[in-house]
Amino acid sequence: MNQKIKKAAIIGSADLALHMAQYLSAGGYEIAGLFDDFRKPGTKAGAYTVLGAIDDIISHKGRFDEVFIGIGYNHLNKKSEVSEFLISNGIITGTFVHPAAFAERSAVIGSGSFILPNCTIDKAAIIGRNIFMNPNCCVSHDSVIGDESFFGPGAVVSGKCKIGKRCFLGAGSVIKDNIEVCDGVLIGAGAVVTKSISEAGIYAGVPAKKISR
Ligand SMILES: CC(C)(COP(=O)(O)OP(=O)(O)OC[C@H]1O[C@@H](n2cnc3c(N)ncnc32)[C@H](O)[C@@H]1OP(=O)(O)O)[C@@H](O)C(=O)NCCC(=O)NCCS
Repeated sequence: MNQKIKKAAIIGSADLALHMAQYLSAGGYEIAGLFDDFRKPGTKAGAYTVLGAIDDIISHKGRFDEVFIGIGYNHLNKKSEVSEFLISNGIITGTFVHPAAFAERSAVIGSGSFILPNCTIDKAAIIGRNIFMNPNCCVSHDSVIGDESFFGPGAVVSGKCKIGKRCFLGAGSVIKDNIEVCDGVLIGAGAVVTKSISEAGIYAGVPAKKISR
């Protein structure tokens, strides 16, 4: 039986968007095109064509089945805005879990999330919308990750944690079990978070301390 090839549109045309396009292509998607406010329609980004600015996606609805938001960790507020825009226009974000990632069957992965190889999402973990997870990350049992948060490679969230929206967890960072992190927190590479964080800002080191707003 012939399986229909899914068509994906990607918002963004920089490195992250192209990286996502490669994973999606390897996973059997056809890339319909990219939408980016900073490149003219018709221009190429890597092997892919920019079809228009982000708003233009509405008039291209028939050309794709799913949309992925390829906006990186420096612009997580923008990613939230785009997500709201897509929802309000009835456009569905796709969810991509690489076949070499493992999600326990009681875990929930929200629409728009993108999970790369060797990630483990354990029992009853809840991954929100539009989370990007680089390879080798772990979200342990019963933890909750807020929408649009972004994981650097190898970031670990231990059991029963609650991570807010639009957080960035740097490469190799570790959140100890039973920790709460509020919205908009940036955790430096290699940091170990041993106490809950209730104020947005940048935290780094072992144990993690606030280094700036
Ligand atoms: C934490 C981070 C965001 C800080 O960046 P920044 O605001 O530009 O800060 P700076 O590089 O100016 O460093 C400020 C101070 O914090 C220290 N610092 C920076 N990052 C640190 C880290 N990860 N761990 C410990 N200390 C760190 C610096 O040594 C410097 O200390 P000093 O003032 O004594 O010299 C950044 O260093 C970082 O770790 N980013 C994550 C990178 C990553 O994981 N990328 C993966 C992408 S997929």
